[in-house]
Amino acid sequence: MTTATSPHAFWLAGRRATGDSTLDVTSPWDGRHVGTVSVPTDDQVEEAVAAAAGVAESFAATPAHVRAAALDHVTARLVERTEEIAQLISAENGKPMKWARGEVGRCVSVFRWAAEEARRFNGGEAQRLDSDAGGTGRLAYTRRFPYGPVLGIAPFNFPLNLCAHKVAPAIAVGTPIILKPAPATPLSGLLLGELLAETELPAGSWSVLTVPNDRMPALVQDERLPIISFTGSDTVGWAIRDSVPRKRVTLELGGNGAAVVLGDWSSEADLDHAAQRIATFSNYQAGQSCISVQRVIADASVHDRLVPKVVAAVEALNCGDPADDTTDVGPLVSEDAARRVESWVSEAVSRGATLLTGGKREGAAFQPTVLQDVPQDTQLGCEEVFGPVMSFVKVNGEEEAFAAVNDSKFGLQAGLFTHDIQAAFRAHRALEVGGVVVGDVPSYRADQMPYGGVKASGVGREGVRFAMEDYTYERVMVLTGIDL
Ligand code: SIN
Repeated sequence: MTTATSPHAFWLAGRRATGDSTLDVTSPWDGRHVGTVSVPTDDQVEEAVAAAAGVAESFAATPAHVRAAALDHVTARLVERTEEIAQLISAENGKPMKWARGEVGRCVSVFRWAAEEARRFNGGEAQRLDSDAGGTGRLAYTRRFPYGPVLGIAPFNFPLNLCAHKVAPAIAVGTPIILKPAPATPLSGLLLGELLAETELPAGSWSVLTVPNDRMPALVQDERLPIISFTGSDTVGWAIRDSVPRKRVTLELGGNGAAVVLGDWSSEADLDHAAQRIATFSNYQAGQSCISVQRVIADASVHDRLVPKVVAAVEALNCGDPADDTTDVGPLVSEDAARRVESWVSEAVSRGATLLTGGKREGAAFQPTVLQDVPQDTQLGCEEVFGPVMSFVKVNGEEEAFAAVNDSKFGLQAGLFTHDIQAAFRAHRALEVGGVVVGDVPSYRADQMPYGGVKASGVGREGVRFAMEDYTYERVMVLTGIDL
């Protein structure tokens, strides 16, 4: 039990523990103290990893109903505690309450899906081998087995749900997990631990370790953790992968999400709808989502009508205190983050971009911002801004639009506003991204669908079943002398 003065315990092999140092969590909105978290010692980290390795074999053999029941329990408890958890997310991350509630709702569906997948996963597949004479009387039976314990490294922008995307698939396949939440937002991950602790999952099958980033390399290198699932910046992600080339590493990294508006999306109602969606999803969570709208690529035939509609929709957003139910846009995660966004916008403007609205910073808050004519060789033109900023690009026709989307080192998701189903299929073929969302912004993500990128945006896929596949490999058993 945490008191007003004692730090939040972390979770070591399924039980509460405290270390010999702490870290403070503060609200990005007003700097108030949200909590103090205990930090594990090196010995405690070792204990957690040893426990994970020790339980791996027996956990993989746990009946599906046991794992599914634990996942069902977490699902139900998330529903029961939604409001309180949303308040925690909002306090530590600065996310407006309406988005924080949405995050808890998504986390519910991650655990619900994981429970369902746990029940049906790994029934195995039989294949007759007597298609060639040498295989007469032989049958291959294939099932998936975990590689071993997972190291899950989660970011600050969805402090609950992106922890869930690491943890729930691990439980579903029966592989232990060491979860490392982001140091800026550890409380949501620790709360998830509280719900896991109420289940019958074996000791050692999960830990939530509030390890600072500078101690992450030791965990990354640990051979007892053959799987790494990382969500965060492309620089850190690729450095992790390069440092352990023999491990299986899933990277969910950045993007500079494009919303394409083709010429057939042209009625007033069409453009009003696109403007609303673009304004909302460039700025949700202050733009701190890998699939927020950063680039609006509009056909010349609709561009000039769309721009003022987007600017008006952006200016109508309610910015302010994340605890207020009516707030649409809160602060970024820190003042440093907002200063970086400010400097990128200043650079773009000094290099010739036109500022259509926004551009001002106050503390950690940055105004929703719209630009056009951003030079591509500026930070804003080619990197992931991870802030409430979008820029317009005018194109002529579909081919130019698709080329503009692909003219990026990233390839996570793209949105395509069109009524033309053939154009949708052409986009699906042409766009170098992990997902194309037709009739909406790139920011749409259902938690059961495959999610991940190509190019600098990462490797591997999340989305419950896809992560379960990532954590496991096919092992075949050949039976001989079978009367087929
Ligand atoms: C991310 O920022 O990568 C996650 C986006 C989401 O889960 O909606």
